[in-house]
Amino acid sequence: DLAKQQQAMALSEVMSPAADWYKQQLKKNTRAIDYLKGRGLSGEIAKRFNLGYAPESWQGLEAVFGSYSQDSIANVLVEAGLIIQSEAKRYDRFRDRIMFPIRNPKGQVIAFGGRILDAGEPKYLNSPETPLFSKGNTLYGLFEARQAIRDKGYVIVCEGYMDVVALAQLGFANGVATLGTACTANHVRALMRQTDRIIFSFDGDAAGQRAAKRALEACLPMMADDKEIKFLFLPTEHDPDSFVRERGAPAFDEAIRQAMPLSSFLIQVANEGHDWNTPEGRAQTQHAAKPLLLSMPAIALRAQLIRELAQRIGITPAELESFCGFKPVVEQ
Ligand code: CTP
Ligand code: MN
Ligand code: MN
Ligand code: MN
Ligand code: MN
Repeated sequence: DLAKQQQAMALSEVMSPAADWYKQQLKKNTRAIDYLKGRGLSGEIAKRFNLGYAPESWQGLEAVFGSYSQDSIANVLVEAGLIIQSEAKRYDRFRDRIMFPIRNPKGQVIAFGGRILDAGEPKYLNSPETPLFSKGNTLYGLFEARQAIRDKGYVIVCEGYMDVVALAQLGFANGVATLGTACTANHVRALMRQTDRIIFSFDGDAAGQRAAKRALEACLPMMADDKEIKFLFLPTEHDPDSFVRERGAPAFDEAIRQAMPLSSFLIQVANEGHDWNTPEGRAQTQHAAKPLLLSMPAIALRAQLIRELAQRIGITPAELESFCGFKPVVEQ
């Protein structure tokens, strides 16, 4: 795939100068600086994440790359998702937005997220999928968080750009974000390359609850007994950014300590909407637990889960195993 590699290389060459330019523009724009200050961010943290500002201009990046009427460069910028081509017109994708450069694990800028400063739609505008950037394979902040993940011994996985940046501001530099998409197997694999301990901390709303369930499903096939995966559930009205700023770092530390282990969350998900106190509810829980248990490799934790679930459902572990279709362990 040499052609594709060469194309990706050409694209990566325009991303870093664009990021530098957005960063310079932030220094000149008091409205953008005040926005970030208003969200509790220091200049130091803005620098750490290379935050920038895309001015309210239709051809702003011409200052960096020259006239968009030159096809050779404009075509690359279009491919990179920095400018939009509509018939004969070429104009900047990101205008009047706070810019979050998204870096790959090598530190190269592969995409951007842009937040609107006032109310408006869309709140975030992201780079399109390009040969450099695919959302399902990318974790925002992973490059910036690597050392802190090593030091703290775990990673905090959230939904959004601001969650990662605000957590770093308050001393949790080990945060990354899935950027509002479902947590994929590729995300989990990338995380497990860095650490054995993952804490998911999505928004407290219904979307965040759904995201936690998807994350559970993504993790199960990769579970091992030396991994520790937990779920931190915030009050409905909060996300990590609002929580840590309103309640402070010690409160978030405490929430981390009280995060729910994967095993408890699995049982809760299986039992959701069902009643432990009726035969029907217990049977439905058993039914819902089956695919979850089946997607987990045969590890010690699975055996523990089967024992606990069987007991709560009111059957024997052997009955639950046979219901799931596991081969019975032959006794010597
Ligand atoms: N997102 C997106 N496009 C949108 C809304 C959300 O790409 N229109 C992604 C962004 O990565 C965002 C994440 O989903 O960071 C979580 O969305 P949400 O919780 O709505 O945003 P917050 O990160 O909480 O944004 P903020 O605090 O700035 O309002
Ligand atoms: Mn949300
Ligand atoms: Mn938020
Ligand atoms: Mn949020
Ligand atoms: Mn159910």
